[in-house]
Amino acid sequence: MPTAPAPEPEVGPDEPWSLDIEYVPTPEVVVEKMLEAAAVGPDDLLIDLGCGDGRLLVAAAKRGAKARGYDLDPERIAEARANIEKAGVGDRVTVARRNIFDVDLSEATVVTLYLLPSINVKLIPQLEKLRPGARIISHDFDMEGVEYDDVWTVMAVHHRPPHGDREHYVYKYSTPLRKVSAPPRKRK
Ligand SMILES: C[S@@+](CC[C@H](N)C(=O)[O-])C[C@H]1O[C@@H](n2cnc3c(N)ncnc32)[C@H](O)[C@@H]1O
Repeated sequence: MPTAPAPEPEVGPDEPWSLDIEYVPTPEVVVEKMLEAAAVGPDDLLIDLGCGDGRLLVAAAKRGAKARGYDLDPERIAEARANIEKAGVGDRVTVARRNIFDVDLSEATVVTLYLLPSINVKLIPQLEKLRPGARIISHDFDMEGVEYDDVWTVMAVHHRPPHGDREHYVYKYSTPLRKVSAPPRKRK
């Protein structure tokens, strides 16, 4: 009989922790565009780094994919677990309370990000370990030094602050990452 995968080690309740970015949820219309951009389907394992309330995970599972989410905030992990259960997708989705900089991404075919430009750049060494043909989809922020395949603009309306009604950006990258050299620094 196949054995169940071992549960991932999580940050302990007494360990000190701090967030690299506060929680801001991706509007549902942008979630759908992110999944469409990556053509997420039943053959995929999507990992959302900083998964918040799990909305990307649930939406990916509804397309038949497996999904895994990581967040450091225990409140977000509790919300994500409740949303996964409510959606009835617990057989395909897991979440763990872990630091995004400590996780192994090698099994993912799709990685989603809604972080910050500086965090995206810091994640490059982990993203470089993805298998060839994996897709990285970033909400609003690009990854300096890496060439993207495409970018879309999505208008999200009827949103309360902090989003309000505004244009959102969806960047798509694929592996192997195509590094672009920084412009030469000017000599003094
Ligand atoms: C802008 S929210 C995005 C939430 C979700 N991915 C979405 O698009 O709706 C960023 C999330 O990253 C989490 N986070 C921030 N720093 C983290 C870290 N170092 N490790 C794990 N999660 C982190 C926050 O708790 C928050 O839920």
